[in-house]
Amino acid sequence: MVTITIDGKKIEAKEGEMLLPVALDNGFDIPHLCYHEALSPYGACRLCLVEVKKGNRTKLTTSCNYPVMEGIEVITDSENIRRARKMVVELLLARSPNVPIIKKLAEKYGVTSTRFKIENEDCILCGLCERVCREIVGVSAITFMGRGDKREVGPPFKIEPEVCIGCGACVYICPTDCIKLEEKNDERTIVRWNRTLRMRRCKICGEKFAPWFQLEYFSKLTNIPKDFFEVCPNCRK
Ligand code: SF4
Ligand code: SF4
Ligand code: FES
Repeated sequence: MVTITIDGKKIEAKEGEMLLPVALDNGFDIPHLCYHEALSPYGACRLCLVEVKKGNRTKLTTSCNYPVMEGIEVITDSENIRRARKMVVELLLARSPNVPIIKKLAEKYGVTSTRFKIENEDCILCGLCERVCREIVGVSAITFMGRGDKREVGPPFKIEPEVCIGCGACVYICPTDCIKLEEKNDERTIVRWNRTLRMRRCKICGEKFAPWFQLEYFSKLTNIPKDFFEVCPNCRK
């Protein structure tokens, strides 16, 4: 364990733990868009900026990928931080002016206009979808492609990702709500990735409950016999 100070309050934390979750767990309010506790930090949105003082040096840094170490002093709100954060919000507002979570952030930080070129994108390139698919689901159906203003997230070669199991984890985690899941007739579609999968119906109640492909994937992954996956979670109880 190490002892650090956040806004003057002494806090114990595990050495190497990232600063953002330590601060959030201790009730400090630091905005963040690309961080999730179950995933590795990525440092993409730059909203979680704080000031860290180590010895005689103070620097402005993202807190989601800053490992805590003995004796650091952290400031979560200062003129400097507010100025930098406003700039980040301005950039986000230029990229995604119609995304509700970005509009809310702009309102909170008093950003009413942006000096940057308006792009009107619904994706803020936070990378949460790519990480959840790779790190938790384990299939890497989507990836980052391109550079600069051509950078985007999607299935490789922009064709239907055959490894996608249609689990919806990316839909759930996307902060801008731009990945939609639709179910029609006996099919589920992850609209943004153009992935359509046939749904399985429960052998007992007849309700659709998951894509066939997903159930086959879990059966292989867990070595649980296939007949376990013929019944929906409700009827399994
Ligand atoms: S729905 Fe497809 S792309 Fe999204 S997390 Fe699941 S497997 Fe990955
Ligand atoms: S699609 Fe959503 S989760 Fe994926 S990078 Fe874009 S904003 Fe983030
Ligand atoms: S939450 Fe730290 S950079 Fe996005």
